[in-house]
Amino acid sequence: MDFYIDLKNIAQEELKQINLDRVNVNCSPPDFEPHRQYYFIAKCRQMVKSESERLGRPLYACTVTFGCQMNARDSEKLAGILELAGYVPSEDETADFVIYNTCTVRDNANQRVYGRLGFLNSMKKKNPHMKIALCGCMMQEASVIEKIKKSYGFVDLIFGTHNIFKFPELLCTMLESGRRVIDIWKDTDQIVEDLPVERKYAFKSGINIMFGCNNFCSYCIVPYVRGRERSRSPKDILREIECLVKDGVVEIMLLGQNVNSYGKNLEEPVNFAGLLREAEKIEGLERIRFMTSHPKDLSDELIEVMKESKKICRHLHLPLQSGSTRILKAMNRRYTKEQYIDLALKIRREIPDIAITTDIIVGFPGETPEDVEETIDVIKQVKYENAFTFIYSKRTGTPAAAMENQVPERAVKEGFDRVLRTVQDTARERVALLQGKVLPVLVEERNEQDSSLMTGRLSNNTLVHFPGDASLIGKIVDVRLEECHGFYYLGRIVNL
Ligand code: 5AD
Ligand code: SF4
Repeated sequence: MDFYIDLKNIAQEELKQINLDRVNVNCSPPDFEPHRQYYFIAKCRQMVKSESERLGRPLYACTVTFGCQMNARDSEKLAGILELAGYVPSEDETADFVIYNTCTVRDNANQRVYGRLGFLNSMKKKNPHMKIALCGCMMQEASVIEKIKKSYGFVDLIFGTHNIFKFPELLCTMLESGRRVIDIWKDTDQIVEDLPVERKYAFKSGINIMFGCNNFCSYCIVPYVRGRERSRSPKDILREIECLVKDGVVEIMLLGQNVNSYGKNLEEPVNFAGLLREAEKIEGLERIRFMTSHPKDLSDELIEVMKESKKICRHLHLPLQSGSTRILKAMNRRYTKEQYIDLALKIRREIPDIAITTDIIVGFPGETPEDVEETIDVIKQVKYENAFTFIYSKRTGTPAAAMENQVPERAVKEGFDRVLRTVQDTARERVALLQGKVLPVLVEERNEQDSSLMTGRLSNNTLVHFPGDASLIGKIVDVRLEECHGFYYLGRIVNL
C-alpha cells in the first residue's frame, strides 16, 4: 500500500477514525500517548490477520470482568482495543484470547479467579495457540504474582491497574515474542485519554472521572492497588460525554471511588457539584448517575444540585459500612453514626423521591453483637431501598488485617443474617411506596428468566420488569408499577 499513515502526524481526536491498516508500523513507534498505543494496535492487527488467514477463520477474544463498575468500564476499553486489533468479540471462554479483569476487594473474588484459571488451563491443553491474560486489581499484589508464576505458568500476559493503557503494547510484545510478558507498575500519575472503547450497552455508559483513592479505610485494599486519587480534567470528561451522546447514549454514570472529592488535585477550581452542573447542560443527555459517594465529603452544594436537576437520577449510593461509631473509628471512616443518620435523613428531606442504597460490612475486627445492633438501628432509621451486605474479608497489607480481635466465622454469620433480614424488610417497605405509580423507565434488556418481559430502571435505580419487545431497548417509557417484589417491580407500559 503506498499511502502509509505516520501516526506521529495525526491529531489526537482523529486517532479513533483512522484506518489502522494504513498505518506505517515499519518506523519506530511514537514516544507519546495515546499515539504509541494506536501504533501497537496496528501492529497487533497485522499479526492477528495473518494468524487468522493461516487458520482460515476469525480469531476470537473474550473479556471477563470481576468486581465493580470501574472494572466493567476498564473491560470495555480492553474489548475496544481487542476489537480494533482484529479479534472478534466472544463470550466463550474457549476463545483464542481470554483476558480476566480481576478484583481483589474481598478474598472470594480472588478464589473465583483461581478456580476459573484451572478451567482455562484445561482449554489451553486442547488449543495450545490459546493466549491467556490477567489484569486488574489482583495483579497489583506481589503475593498473587508469585502464586501465578509458581502454579499457573500457562498464563501468557499479566499487567496491573496503572499500566492498563499500555495493553496494546504488551499484547504486541506477547504476540511477537511468543513468551510470557509480565509488567506491573507500583503507581502512576498518568491518565491516557482517547483509547478505543467497545461499550456493552449502546444507550448507557460509565465514565471515569477519577482514579484511585486516598481514604485508606482500614479494611480496604483499593488505595494500595488503585493508587492515589487523580481526577480527569472537566474538559476531557465533558468532551467524552458529548461524544457518547452523539453516539446514542442517553444515560451516563460518573465513576470514581469517592466522587465527592472530585477535582481536588486539579489546577482549575472545579468540584463534583460543578462538574454535574456542566454535564446537565449537555443536550440529548437524559440521565446522570454517579458512584460512589463517601459520606464524609458529601456537600450541601451537591444536595442542592441534585435537587434542582432534571437529569441527575434520584439515587444515591451512600456506603455506611457500620452503624457503630466505635467500629467506624476503627475503620477510619471519619464520621459517626449520628453524623451519617443526620446526613441520610437530610437528603431524604430535601429530595423526597430519592432512593438511598448502601454497602455494609459485618464482622470487622472487634465487632460485637451490640455493634451489629447499631448497624441494624441505622438500617431501620434510613430504610435503604437496597443494600449490599458483605462479610468482612481480611486483606493482607491493610491495617485491619493486623488487628488482633478478628471475629470468628460463626459469630459473623449470625450477625450477617440479621443485617440481611433487616435490609430485606425495610427495603420492601420503602420500595412498595411506589406501588400503582406511573414512572419513566429506561429499558435496558430482555429479561433473562422470562423472554416475554423487558427489564429497565427507574430514575431511582429500582428494576422494573414488564411485557414488551427488544425494539424498546434504550428508550424511556412510562410504566405503571403494579406488583412490588421486594427490591423490584412487575409493571405494564402505559400509553399516555
Ligand atoms: N471486606 C469486606 N467488604 C469490603 N469492602 C471493601 N473492602 C472490604 C473487605 N476487606 C466493601 C465495602 C465497599 C465495597 C465496594 O466493598 O463495603 O464499600
Ligand atoms: Fe476503599 Fe474506603 Fe477508598 Fe472506598 S473510600 S475505595 S472503601 S478506601
